[in-house]
Amino acid sequence: MKGQFKTIFEPFKIKVVEPIRITSRSERQRYLQQAHYNLFLLSSDQVIIDLLTDSGTSAQSEAQWAGIMQGDESYAGSTSWKHFYETVKDLTGYPYVLPVHQGRGAESVLFEVLCRKGAKYFFSNTHFDTTRANIEYRGATAIDLPCEESQDLFSDAPFKGNIHLQELKKQVEKVGVDNVGAVILTLTNNSGGGQPVSFQNIQETAQFCKEKGIRFFIDACRIAENCYFIHTREEGFSHLSCWEIAQKIFSLADGCLVSAKKDFFGNIGGFLALKDEALAQECMQYLIITEGFLTYGGLAGRDLEAIAVGIREAFDMDYLRYRIRALQYFNEKLRAIGIPVVYPPGGHAVYIDAQKYLPHIPKEHFPGQSLCCALYIEGGIRAVEIGSVMFGKNAKHELVRLAFPRRAYTQAHVDYVIEVFSHINAIKEQLPGYRIVYQMPFLRHFTAHFEPIKG
Ligand code: F0G
Repeated sequence: MKGQFKTIFEPFKIKVVEPIRITSRSERQRYLQQAHYNLFLLSSDQVIIDLLTDSGTSAQSEAQWAGIMQGDESYAGSTSWKHFYETVKDLTGYPYVLPVHQGRGAESVLFEVLCRKGAKYFFSNTHFDTTRANIEYRGATAIDLPCEESQDLFSDAPFKGNIHLQELKKQVEKVGVDNVGAVILTLTNNSGGGQPVSFQNIQETAQFCKEKGIRFFIDACRIAENCYFIHTREEGFSHLSCWEIAQKIFSLADGCLVSAKKDFFGNIGGFLALKDEALAQECMQYLIITEGFLTYGGLAGRDLEAIAVGIREAFDMDYLRYRIRALQYFNEKLRAIGIPVVYPPGGHAVYIDAQKYLPHIPKEHFPGQSLCCALYIEGGIRAVEIGSVMFGKNAKHELVRLAFPRRAYTQAHVDYVIEVFSHINAIKEQLPGYRIVYQMPFLRHFTAHFEPIKG
């Protein structure tokens, strides 16, 4: 703690503002019905506080905007690409950097190449939904192996994002090492409650993969937040900056898949960075066919520039201290009014156990969806279900996520959300379950239509 006082405030001043349109309850009821009770199908001006995602929703800094003005839009070899490349290389140490339009672009390129080589199984602490979809779309199987501590949503364990190492070893044995495409650690573990992974767990996973000759990748879209947890919670890391911890992590892996829309403050963009030249060459071939030329990968020069600046800002210790503290405040205030929030507070979002909160709604009637609809109707808040709607029968829990866009909302916005929850506490027994009346085979949650179950 640098200052004399305890209060941790937003370490920025507001230079540009975006108005919020305030709607009435009856307007919101109509909007939600028109959107088939799917919050993805709402228009953003129908939403008061948008906590649907922390992805692509960051406020850009003055330095990023200055960079945007300097964006070099040359097709090949732009100076913005050089800035982007140097920054990613400095952080990761990987010599091969492939820019992509967003995280799933990196997934698509890497899994296309690995699956063509015959990869049949991928293991992770938890695959994010697009990661799983990109694997399964290519006919391979994605297996989640979250650690035991993660099963208890409310226990105090510091690194509930860890992969279950014993289980990983068993599974690799079972499917045969030659059939394993890769092990991917998601930092932080988004679908598992935004919980961090410890350095020790990363190191032991890397060691095992090395012994077996299995490729090991980091899904690093929230690595800065993960490193802050390592810095504050894991013994032996408090003397290192989060940038240095990240460098150590990257040195243990064969590469990383990154959506730059999260920690790195991009409104769009991402990258795949790799150690191995041969693999990189194959990925580059597919990159040019699907994303764009090697020095822009589907991004404008101004986006490359904004991300290059954003990567360094993401590791600023004053910012990270505020960021993690803001989420902790949000989490603990909800907990104090009896909302079953996943504990301890994670990095980018607050997660609620909707099944525990709404025990009268069975899993098949989507308690998470019900809570999301109530948050919208009562308070104009947009959250996302991470449960049976998103994962179908693979869902381990019925969670609702309130993701916190970076540098976009203040503490007063958080206090408003907490007040809406107090109101929902009083009416929760009356909330209905939902049924799906239309869906697509992959990633159905984005476009599904729902209907409340009258009863
Ligand atoms: N990996 C993780 C851990 C993610 O959280 C996401 C996206 C991706 C990969 C894919 O990145 O969206 O740039 O293609 N998560 C967003 C979210 C959508 O709301 O959590 P993308």
